[in-house]
Amino acid sequence: MPTIVVTGTQWGDEGKGKVVDYLAQKADTVVRYQGGSNAGHTVVVAGEEYKLRLLPSGVIHKNTVNVIANGVVVDPEVMIQEMDALIARGIDVSGIRLSNRAHVVLPYHRMLDGLSDEARGSGKIGTTKRGIGPCYMDKARRIGIRVCDLIDTDEFRKRLKENLELKNKELSLYGAEPLDYEKVLAEYEAYAERLRPHVVDTIALLNREIAANKKILFEGAQATMLDIDYGTYPYVTASHPVSGGVPVGAGVAPRKIDKVIGIVKAYCTRVGEGPFPTEQLNEIGDKLREAGHEFGTVTGRPRRTGWLDAPVVRYAGELSGLDYMAITRLDILDGFDEIKMCVDYKYKGEILKEIPASLKVLAEVEPVYETFEGWKTDISGIRSYEDLPANAKKYLERMAEVVGVPVGIVSVGPNRDETIIIASDLF
Ligand code: GDP
Ligand code: IMO
Ligand code: MG
Repeated sequence: MPTIVVTGTQWGDEGKGKVVDYLAQKADTVVRYQGGSNAGHTVVVAGEEYKLRLLPSGVIHKNTVNVIANGVVVDPEVMIQEMDALIARGIDVSGIRLSNRAHVVLPYHRMLDGLSDEARGSGKIGTTKRGIGPCYMDKARRIGIRVCDLIDTDEFRKRLKENLELKNKELSLYGAEPLDYEKVLAEYEAYAERLRPHVVDTIALLNREIAANKKILFEGAQATMLDIDYGTYPYVTASHPVSGGVPVGAGVAPRKIDKVIGIVKAYCTRVGEGPFPTEQLNEIGDKLREAGHEFGTVTGRPRRTGWLDAPVVRYAGELSGLDYMAITRLDILDGFDEIKMCVDYKYKGEILKEIPASLKVLAEVEPVYETFEGWKTDISGIRSYEDLPANAKKYLERMAEVVGVPVGIVSVGPNRDETIIIASDLF
């Protein structure tokens, strides 16, 4: 099975980086297909922690090709900073490939992201302010600057001049100072020189690798409930984290995808605004946040916390065609006497069969909970499914039943080796 997609099933931060790094041990290539530096993926190898925003989570492995595909919006400054930080730690980054079709995040995208979200007042989304939404907006407006334009000196000068005229007007609407053309130009010309050796046609590269039967791992950022079409709109990101984002975001036909793995945190978190039916605004929520150190990787914001929402994961299962779930952070529940799982939504006394599109309805749904007895023991040293406590297995088995997707991986700690593999046909 040479091509696998790893996608988030909740509101992000499920532990995609950890699982991608684990699976990358057997991969030839790891590919980011959407999002940008709004992502914060953590990889821990032998106690060494790596925080990645743009670079694929396969980058720690020697001899792995890491691809930033056309569907990603790339902030060159962040990409270079991340590469430099890895080089300083002795990691070879020469195998990173950047799509010539990826769109470039410019300073005005970051500024407009912050200014426009603040201007929404109480309706703000709480974005990461990385310029992601504004960059995808320019892509859809047909004024975006792509990597192929960035590395073409004449073209970049022309496009930057045109765009700055417009963007400085937009910035003035928010009372912000205009950006200086020469300054931005000099900064981005230096980035272009640095990135040039990494730029290729990643569509051709990936399709060549698929034809050669190479093992390719597609790494989703964000998650299903933050997908611009399927998430809790407008409290979403601007891209398609679902597995359907892979063909469009990487130029690989849908029929070339062999397996899809959904990453499911054993409970639930959300950063930023928007509905969260199983949120626990009480001491249980506080306990989950403390036990799980739930603070955002990119912004440091405390994450909102709650019980597992199985209807959301079931929805992700349908949307992405999940073959397996990888359950992460099960160890965070070690200290709980009682664990709850939402198995259905009730609205006006009726069980809902679908995830409501309307945020008004979603705000009023009543989660139907099942209660499980905790296992009250440290599971971080366990490496086989059979050895997990009976109560932990009960929780996982019920989850698989309600979601309708088998559990293929259980993660019991942040380190690469703190992983239990159940499915024998993963890669
Ligand atoms: P991502 O955005 O989906 O890659 O997830 P993040 O890296 O933002 O957040 C997940 C956090 O949980 C990181 O700090 C990981 O190191 C950590 N993590 C991943 N899997 C496990 C696990 O099974 N147990 C524990 N305790 N931590 C984990
Ligand atoms: P990873 O890949 C959690 C959230 C933001 C905000 C909304 C829109 O680490 O799981 P954006 O900056 O994308 O326009 O913000 O999406 N968000 C994330 N939440 N994990 C992420 O990425 C996120 N990326 C964006 O908090 O609510
Ligand atoms: Mg994250």
